[in-house]
Parts: sequence; structure tokens; C-alpha cells
Amino acid sequence: MKIGVIGTGYVGLVTGTCLAELGHEVICVDALPRKIELLNNGGCPIYEPGLSDLIRKQRQAGRLTFSTDIGGMAPDRDAIFIAVGTPPRPDGEADLSFLRAAVSDLAPHLAGFTAVVTKSTVPVGTGDGIEAQLAEQRPDADVAVVSNPEFLREGSAIGDFMKPDRIVVGTDDLRARELMQQIYAPLTDAGAPLVMTDRRTSELIKYAANAFLAVKISYINEIADLCEELGADAVRVAEGMGLDPRIGRRFLDPGPGFGGSCFPKDTDALLSTGRAAGVPLRVVTAASEANRDRKRLLAARVAAVAGDLAGQTVAVLGLTFKAGTDDMREAASLELIPELQRRGATVRAFDPKGMEAARDLLPGIVLCRDAYDAAKGATAVVVLTEWPAFRTLDLQRLAGVVGIPLLIDMRNLFDPDEVSRAGFDYVSIGRPAAAARDRSPAVRLGAARSTSAAA
Ligand SMILES: NC(=O)c1ccc[n+]([C@@H]2O[C@H](COP(=O)([O-])OP(=O)(O)OC[C@H]3O[C@@H](n4cnc5c(N)ncnc54)[C@H](O)[C@@H]3O)[C@@H](O)[C@H]2O)c1
Repeated sequence: MKIGVIGTGYVGLVTGTCLAELGHEVICVDALPRKIELLNNGGCPIYEPGLSDLIRKQRQAGRLTFSTDIGGMAPDRDAIFIAVGTPPRPDGEADLSFLRAAVSDLAPHLAGFTAVVTKSTVPVGTGDGIEAQLAEQRPDADVAVVSNPEFLREGSAIGDFMKPDRIVVGTDDLRARELMQQIYAPLTDAGAPLVMTDRRTSELIKYAANAFLAVKISYINEIADLCEELGADAVRVAEGMGLDPRIGRRFLDPGPGFGGSCFPKDTDALLSTGRAAGVPLRVVTAASEANRDRKRLLAARVAAVAGDLAGQTVAVLGLTFKAGTDDMREAASLELIPELQRRGATVRAFDPKGMEAARDLLPGIVLCRDAYDAAKGATAVVVLTEWPAFRTLDLQRLAGVVGIPLLIDMRNLFDPDEVSRAGFDYVSIGRPAAAARDRSPAVRLGAARSTSAAA
């Protein structure tokens, strides 16, 4: 099949590259010439494990090319996937201006039957809007507008695309159904379930799934708060809950609150859809509010255990919204660090992949060579992202460089006994705090949370 992809971000670039890996002939276009130039020079604009190698392989095989010229790409394509951003507007609604611009750029160049496939996450009814826009711009065009939401996760995007839990396709057009079946045949032949449905249902599946996961995270975070008050261990609670197959263990890791380019914006967009439809989505509203509060109060949590932060140094390990990506969108660090600075702290930070983005987004932080460098002289070391490399830090070495050995672990990466043996007072999420063997247990995160609730 001849496929076009509009947008070479986290989704478009992975989609285009993986579709080439499935044997299709793919042209990816982007509005940003510097991205296309970088790709054409063998570079990769994002960090995603395995992606650079796969791009190189597919370019060498002649199945993957990059261009800024939508007019050169469109006319002979069987399907054109749109994977541009749909960021949140200030009122929470999805901003569809990039999508509309892409459709507008595409319309004059359509020739022959083409499936215009929305990969971007878009509110219910957006496909109808694209159809209307195309009908107005190109009443003669032979197109089917298809919804095909993407479920890949940054950090494991290639595996997620190549071995999906499910592929969702929404269209009533029989030619488009057949085309989409052919495009995904290598995956469905290998056992991937295909949910073929109407366009509105398909559009809603994506939001309903993301909002559900957001609810799950907010739920375990609140259970973790309760654990801190009651002296229970949230990790074991999650384990005990998660063994029930109706619940499942995944997305039950308490932490600093969900971030990233999807959960916050998709929950807000779903709420906005609910409001417009007159259906109050109370559970999702609560999950979204709980998460916002949690992130807003992160610095207060730190202050509650570390004391007055004025003139102190705080080390932050991990800046990206999760491990495995360089994506900083809605990262907890963007809430925590400015507030630490506002309270007078100097923030020294390290992230394996997020340093470049952080330079612009977090003015005033000291970006450090590694975790040990970041921890130099710190009153508290805060672990914010679950990078595997942090799990294997040499804690003795870390204890040797800090000012005060206090480790605040927002990802529960460490064994409390091990941390206290290394000489740290240890505060994690939803677990009893552990004091260094030779000090009295002065730290208790429950105290942090009640203080932060009042902040
Ligand atoms: N990032 C994820 O993990 C993820 C997962 C599933 C779904 N999604 C959804 O996929 C969509 C894309 O997300 P993303 O993270 O890849 O975004 P992104 O911001 O990383 O990439 C969007 C790309 O589209 C390009 N673009 C914008 N307007 C264009 C136009 N008119 N013509 C050509 N190119 C254009 C931009 O230059 C950019 O390279 C969003 O709707 C998002 O919600 C994202």
C-alpha cells in the first residue's frame, strides 16, 4: 500500500516507520522544514527507544521517505494518516486548528480514492467535521474519513505499534474498511484484535480508555495517601488488588500524579465533551481535580519533610513526565521545580534524556552531569521520574555527596531498608518512612501530606 503520514511527532513518526516495517511504502510530511531536514540527514527529532535504527533500516530499504511537500505526497496515496497535535485549549477543549490546517493543505492534492485517517486523538464528531471540510474544499474528491486512534505509549512505542493490544478502526465506508484491513493485515494475521466500528464510537474509545487509566492512577494515589495516614504499604495494597484479574496490576503505581501529552489533555477534552453533551462525568472530574491538586502540592510535600527551603539546595532526579522519553509535556517537574524555586531553593537536576527540553522550560535550574553531581550539597534529593538508571544508583556514593541525607522518592524505586542502610532518611509514596539507622525517625510523609493539604 502507498501511505502518507502528516505530522512526524511521537505518533506520526512511529506510525510511518512501523507501517514501512510492515511492508508499506510510506512518505511522512511535516510542516517544520528543520524536522524533515534532520530526518533526511539520518537524524531523529525525538528520543524513542529503537526508533532511529528502524528509521535507518526503512530508509535504506527505500520504503520510508520524508518531505515537506504535501502536494507531492498526496495524489497517489491509498491512505493518508493525520497525526498532528491536538493540544488543549485554555478551556480544556481539544485545539483542532493543526488538524484543520492539515486537512486544508491536503484537500487540493487528493486524487483517486483516498482514505483520510485520523490518528490524532480527536473529540467525537471530528471525523464528521473533516468530512464537511473536505466536501466544501473538494466536492469532487473521492474520500472516506476514517478514525484510527493510536494507543502507543512513549518509551515503548514501537513494540506497542507492532504488537498492539487492539487496533480500532471507525468507518462505515466499505472500501475504507477493506483498505484498513489490508494495511493492518500483518498485525491482525499475527493475532492483533481489530475492532471495526463506526467513526464516533472509535473516536470515543480513545478518550474513554485514557480517562479510565487516569482514574486508575488518581485512585491509587489517593489510596497511597490513605496508606500514609494508616501505616499501610500502598505497594503491597496495589499488589494485592492487582492480582484480581478484574482490576489488573498495571497503572496501580502511586506517584507524583499523571502527566504527559495525553492523560491530562484527554481527560479535560472528555470532560468538555461531556459538558457539551449535558452529561456530567463526575468520576473523571474527580480524577482530574485530584491529579491537579497532587501536582500543585508536590513542593509543599518536599518542604514538609525537608523544612524551610529558602537558601537550600534541592536535587531533582528525573525531569521528563515518565521514563523512556524526552517528552516534558505536563511533567511533574514543571510544577515542582518552579515552586521549589519560589520558596527560595536552588534546584540542581539531572535527567538521562530531558536536559535539552528542560533548559528552556525550567529557567534557573542547574543542569548537572549525572545524579551524583546533582546531589552535591543537597538538603533533599527528590526522585521524580522512574528511569531504570536511578534504581541502580550507588546510594552510599550519593549519601557521600549530599548536604543532608534525605531521599524523597516519588516513584517508590528503592527498598526502604537499603536506603536507610546507606545513611538516608527515606520518604516514599504510600509507604512508611524509613529513618537512617543512626538517626531518630523524624520524617513521616503523612505529616507532609497534611501540611501540603493546608498549603
Ligand atoms: N504522544 C503520545 O504518546 C500519543 C499517543 C497516542 C495518541 N497521541 C495523539 O496523537 C496526536 C499527535 O501527538 P504527538 O505526541 O505525536 O504530537 P507532536 O506534537 O509530537 O507531533 C505533531 C507533529 O505534527 C506536525 N504538524 C502540525 N501541523 C502540521 C501540518 N499542518 N502539516 C504537517 N505537519 C504538521 C508538527 O510539526 C509535529 O511534528 C495527538 O492528537 C495526540 O493526542 C499521542
